[in-house]
Amino acid sequence: MAVEWSGLAPEVLITLDRRRPVPLRAQLEDQFRQAIRSGRLGAGDRVPSSRALAKALGLSRGLVQESYAQLQAEGYLVTRGGSATRVATAATRAAPALRPPAPAPARLIADFASGVPDLASVPREDWAWAIREACRIAPNTDLNYGDPAGNTRLREVLAGYMRRVRAADTIAAQVIICSGMAQGLGLVLRSLADQGLTRAGFEDPGPVDAATTAAWAGVEAVPVPVDDRGVDVAALDATGAGAVVLTPAHQWPTGVVLAPERRLALVDWAARRQAVIIEDDYDAEFRYDRDPVGALQGLAPDRVVAFGTVSKSLAPALRLGWIVSPPDLAAALARAKQVTDRGSPGLDQLALALLIETGRYDRHLRRMRAEYAARRDVLIEALAEHAPGVRLTGLAAGFHAVAHLQPGTAEQDVIRAARSRSVGLYGMSAHRADHAPDPPQLVLGFGNTSQRAIRTGIALVSDLLGNRC
Ligand SMILES: Cc1ncc(COP(=O)(O)O)c(C=O)c1O
Repeated sequence: MAVEWSGLAPEVLITLDRRRPVPLRAQLEDQFRQAIRSGRLGAGDRVPSSRALAKALGLSRGLVQESYAQLQAEGYLVTRGGSATRVATAATRAAPALRPPAPAPARLIADFASGVPDLASVPREDWAWAIREACRIAPNTDLNYGDPAGNTRLREVLAGYMRRVRAADTIAAQVIICSGMAQGLGLVLRSLADQGLTRAGFEDPGPVDAATTAAWAGVEAVPVPVDDRGVDVAALDATGAGAVVLTPAHQWPTGVVLAPERRLALVDWAARRQAVIIEDDYDAEFRYDRDPVGALQGLAPDRVVAFGTVSKSLAPALRLGWIVSPPDLAAALARAKQVTDRGSPGLDQLALALLIETGRYDRHLRRMRAEYAARRDVLIEALAEHAPGVRLTGLAAGFHAVAHLQPGTAEQDVIRAARSRSVGLYGMSAHRADHAPDPPQLVLGFGNTSQRAIRTGIALVSDLLGNRC
């Protein structure tokens, strides 16, 4: 895109060597030719006015005007109707694309991709208000580098939020702001690796990309099976892992809630092994018809690191999350954050604090909880109508569920056939450590799928889903 300048002349790096036996005008023209040919100056870019350039380079204005006239004659520059002089389109070299353009995604009638909140409902007005307010009230000192652990006000607000909503046992000093769970997990695993951690357990099925994060942190990732009561603690114990990464409130992706006796067994395991439980509380705000389940962190604040994120509650693009750390790990995490990026963006942190303090965050969550609950009901009804007998589990929270296909069904065949009908379906096999296709299951996300799309989509693939289970 051509650079448009308002008011001030654009800057262009031109260097003249007054010791060379080449006339200055020739040097100037040559520099422009090279800049245009190499793509440093792009099609339509404005060049400085002759007056500004003459002043900047210590030349006479007449010399610059003559150079510009020569470059126009050669087809490098154009001037139209008294407007600014610009680089001619024909003279420029097309800049290589950063990466080949991705093929346009196929338009789907219904996409049951999971993990994405309703992007059409992101509270843009509230966020814009909060950013404007943050800019208005932030003292100048807040525009400097801040505490790498995060903005004090946000840390206070989040500690209070985690105590109030998740029954966490924490104070602001233990809260570290990060760029979402993805960064938080890397920081935690690296800090623990520095303290001697070599192996961490991950839920299977679970987030397969977590193994990549673990490798980056120098930690071996071992899969630990998940059944209908959550992670298998005896199997975890047998791995000899010194940490485990879990989604206890709504297991990703099975949707299972960690059973009470497993919660206690886990805490006991951590105490016995001096191990760390890394709790990913990614969608805990969206609970429906079960009794509230507090964060595990509240049961063992010295042994649990808990993550929160706004990626499900507001929008993934905000890249804001937080770590609730055991007291003895907080300083190491702040150091890791300092080395990584010197802290998360200050104004965004203040904006999130304002959103929560003013109740706008809670209001948005209430609205979205009702919307996701309605979508969930539509999904249940649509399946009951079009594919009765397909068992649906993992519905207690969040915005995805698991559909159990009939034994013997080929998951990938169903996904391919659905795609040919413009319905996006996704299989559980992608989330299993060994990618096993059995038992055949679909992870049905409905966060970013409208009620109408859910109804239409399920009707379109009903015969593929089968009627018995
Ligand atoms: C299990 C799980 N936890 C957390 C997140 C959020 O990650 P982040 O906060 O980095 O956006 C995701 C994203 O999809 C996820 O799948």
